[in-house]
Parts: sequence; C-alpha cells; structure tokens
Amino acid sequence: MTDTQRYITVDDVSFGYEANQLTLDSISLIIGRGEFVAVIGPSGCGKSTLLRLLAGLVEPTRGKLTVDGQPICGPGLDRAVVFQDYSLFPWMTCRDNIVLALEQAKLGANKTERRQIALDFLSLVGLAQDGDKLPGQLSGGMRQRTAIARALAINAPILLMDEPFGALDEITRARQQDLLLDLWQGGQGDEKAGKTVFFVTHDVEEAVILGDRVMVMGTRPGRLVRDIQVTLPRPRTRMGSLQHPNFSPLRDLLLNELNLVVDELLLPGSSHGAHI
Ligand SMILES: Nc1ncnc2c1ncn2[C@@H]1O[C@H](COP(=O)(O)OP(=O)(O)O)[C@@H](O)[C@H]1O
Ligand SMILES: [Mg+2]
Repeated sequence: MTDTQRYITVDDVSFGYEANQLTLDSISLIIGRGEFVAVIGPSGCGKSTLLRLLAGLVEPTRGKLTVDGQPICGPGLDRAVVFQDYSLFPWMTCRDNIVLALEQAKLGANKTERRQIALDFLSLVGLAQDGDKLPGQLSGGMRQRTAIARALAINAPILLMDEPFGALDEITRARQQDLLLDLWQGGQGDEKAGKTVFFVTHDVEEAVILGDRVMVMGTRPGRLVRDIQVTLPRPRTRMGSLQHPNFSPLRDLLLNELNLVVDELLLPGSSHGAHI
C-alpha cells in the first residue's frame, strides 16, 4: 500500500477513560488521502472518543495513530475539528471566533484580511448577517454552522467532523450536505486542496450521501464491526444520490448492521449487552 493510501492510520487502538473500563477496543482503520469516511453507530459507542483520539486530544491506552507517517501526539494545524458541542468561545462574536482560529493557524496577512476570510466563510454557511452576534444570541443550528465555517476557514487538509449537521433543520441540513460535497469534490485530484474527511453521524442516509466508505461501530466496548464501500458515482449531489438505484440497498444494509449492533446490546445474556 502506498503512503497516499495510508494517510491516516489507526493501528490496534484501545482506549478507556478510566483504568478498568474499555471505551474503545482494538480499533484498526486506514484512511487514504482525500478519502471521505463516514462513521455511524449507536449513541455511546465511542464515535466522539475515536474522533478525539484522531484530534490528538486524548492518547490511546494501547496502539498508535499516525497522520502522513507521523504519530499523532496532540492537536495540530493539519486537523480541523467540528466538535459535537460546537466549542465556540461564548464571549466572542461569531466572526471573532473564526478570526482567532485564523490567527492560531497563521492565516491571513492582517486583522482586516482575517475578518474578511471569516466573513466569507460565514457567508458560505448562510450566516453573512450574523458575524457580529455572540454565540448565545444564535440558535443551536446557527452556532453549529459557525463551528463548520471556522473549521473550513483554517483550510486544514484533514476535517474531523462530529455530527456537524445534527442540530440543523431538514432544509438547512440538505444544503450543508451539498455544500460539503461541493467543497470536498472541488478539491479532489488536487494534492493541496483535496481534503480527507472523518465524519461522524448517526444518520444512515447522510452517511451514504456523503461517504466513500461507511464504518459501522458496535458498542460496549466500542469497536468497528463493518466497513462498507459506498457504490455511488462521484461527483455527487444529495438529490442525485437519493435517486440512484444503489442508494436504498446501501441504506438498508447499513440499517440492518445497526440493528444487529443494537440487538446485541439489548439481548439478555449477550456478552456485551445490558441485561433487561
Ligand atoms: N470524558 C469522559 N469521561 C468518562 N467517560 C466518558 C467521557 N466521554 C465519554 N465517555 C463515555 O465513553 C463512552 C463513549 O462516549 P462517546 O465517545 O461520546 O460516544 P458517541 O459519540 O458514540 O455517542 C460512553 O459510555 C460515554 O459515557
Ligand atoms: Mg458523540
């Protein structure tokens, strides 16, 4: 396998928040440069934990993670994160939240340019009029889009997104999916612009619409149970994917996999499951 095909590696990684409890068990995963990997799994299976490991915010108990051949040992400018709880500074306007990230990433020549870049990305997510507002003055969906704009603005080669569209209404979510597809596909084939995306969602349809591959996680402890190739043509649009004959069989296959995982959780006497 070439280095391009092994851009991000997760090699036999286990992790526990406490010494006697295993949250993730023996996760192995290889992501190629420019690949879009979607991750689904029931709530609590460790999706966010896996993303935190990739972000370098926690260290594995066992195993190792690498990006471009280098071990992950902390957060880095090569990885932009959209956190599930948005993680905006509440005392700064939306625009200043983005300007700060640009400063940290050493992007933009000066304050004026950074403010312009921040505005451009806020416009991209439909918040051109809201840059001067504080996060507390916005709806959850607007805060979430601010966090997406911030992650896109710093132009990192890797995007780690934790249920980034979870708080959006249906129409806004559909638009953001198309926006992400456009941005991602626009850079494909270009070593510099092509982004590698690790995208956590609990929405099976979203995973199929966006992903090259969908990883299904099981729970207690969190582990990867399936890795399914999405056989939909690129470039894609959301609507084009929904209407493609491969779409329903893929969605049903993934729903079935998720059902198996949840059944296992609920079955009395299951080695992993809670007893009911
Ligand atoms: N900071 C933490 N300290 C202790 N346990 C945690 C912490 N964060 C998450 N967990 C536990 O780890 C498991 C996986 O959580 P998480 O990665 O958030 O799952 P998901 O994102 O799939 O819903 C859950 O049982 C959760 O309660
Ligand atoms: Mg989560």
